[in-house]
Amino acid sequence: MANVTVIGAQWGDEGKGKLVDWLSNRADVVVRFQGGHNAGHTLVVDGTVYKLSLLPSGVVQGKLSIIGNGVVVDPWALFSEIAKVEAQGLTITPDLLNIADNACLILPIHSELDIAREAAAGAGKIGTTGRGIGPAYEDKVGRRAIRVADLEDLDALSGKIDRLLTHHNALRQGLGLPDVDVAALTDQLKEIAPRLLPYARPVWYVLDKARQDGKRILFEGAQGALLDIDHGTYPFVTSSNTVAGQAAAGSGLGPKSVGYVLGILKAYTTRVGSGPFPTELFDEIGKGIATRGHEFGTVTGRARRVGWLDAVLARQSIAINGIDGIALTKLDILDGIETIKVCVGYKVADKVLDYLPAGFKAQQGIEPIYEELPGWSESTQGARSWKDLPGNAVKYVRHIEELIGAPVALLSTSPERDDTILMRDPFQD
Ligand code: GDP
Ligand code: IMO
Ligand code: MG
Repeated sequence: MANVTVIGAQWGDEGKGKLVDWLSNRADVVVRFQGGHNAGHTLVVDGTVYKLSLLPSGVVQGKLSIIGNGVVVDPWALFSEIAKVEAQGLTITPDLLNIADNACLILPIHSELDIAREAAAGAGKIGTTGRGIGPAYEDKVGRRAIRVADLEDLDALSGKIDRLLTHHNALRQGLGLPDVDVAALTDQLKEIAPRLLPYARPVWYVLDKARQDGKRILFEGAQGALLDIDHGTYPFVTSSNTVAGQAAAGSGLGPKSVGYVLGILKAYTTRVGSGPFPTELFDEIGKGIATRGHEFGTVTGRARRVGWLDAVLARQSIAINGIDGIALTKLDILDGIETIKVCVGYKVADKVLDYLPAGFKAQQGIEPIYEELPGWSESTQGARSWKDLPGNAVKYVRHIEELIGAPVALLSTSPERDDTILMRDPFQD
């Protein structure tokens, strides 16, 4: 049975939320498999804007939505997000939303540590979202995290909290933070437990049943491949594996369940936070793209850095994710640009590279090699079919396919759900 895995092919904010919402219509289950509420996925449906961070985008179409074991869950952020979308008319119940009972929790101490460490790092900061993502994943691999199922046994919780705080208080002392108030943290967990536990499920079991019943599963990635902890621009990355392979491990299904891998690629590039960005623009063209594209972070409101499309990075992303097809988004933002550039190679010292070198020094020394393509003056905004696109826009898309070596399966021309052109249905067997 055809499943689809949606992942960001750049540094995040490619339009994953819009595409997952659009594809949800064809799916039975939508699953988040990594990251946490550092994600900000925007969906626009008939003018109503939904901003989702932790909730899978399937909730808007009322599809069974699952937060897998690979996600780090901040229960307080979750309930405030639920309240926000319920105020917009959605209803979130344990029939609609399941949370892996083996997922690790983000606690208030994690965001405190995240923020304190970033402040201490000064100019060397990563530019995190401050949501405690890194510290929560550290506790997970350090085998001292509190997991969802731990809230079932409140008597055993105090030993787990002690173990966790032995580690945290030492770090906090080094950063000049006061020791954690054990009683307050215990009370917070006791208060949240009866609210969170009704959503807890052995998610691997639910998904195995869905698989056996021939249900279509849609995996929703967060962040992007270049923020992957292994494959991204380390250390300026997030703390999870964001690549498609993680969809299996982060949900409890086998690797074959990943299905068709749909990479979401913006027609240009953005990144939030610090780190290398070979095609970054500092001129009026870049400012124009940022303004027209409303390139401000959904989560933190920070201005996103903007640059030309980088075909070198796109090819790398296609390889490390096993991307079958691309959803090219925000084509409309390039409307009116006379000459569009695409990076096709890197000059590093006296060498030409067709991949991003892993070393930071080499990354800093990259000189992009550009190809120039003629732009178009007509509007593509809201186009819903190929024939509505100006000739040069069609040529641009076709040329990108050649440069990156993957077909464009979907094309997005505005934030609205239905302003989407389908070339190949990713769910098609
Ligand atoms: P995500 O994190 O990958 O889900 O992406 P974000 O929601 O953070 O950022 C993408 C932004 O672009 C959102 O504001 C979307 O509403 C918007 N968007 C998505 N697709 C398009 C498109 O094709 N054209 C335009 N103009 N905006 C789009
Ligand atoms: P979506 O799912 C863009 C970036 C942060 C920072 C780095 C590490 O909306 O595409 P973290 O808080 O994860 O430790 O921050 O990763 N980052 C994102 N950038 N989109 C995201 O999510 C991001 N999630 C994290 O800006 O550079
Ligand atoms: Mg986003």
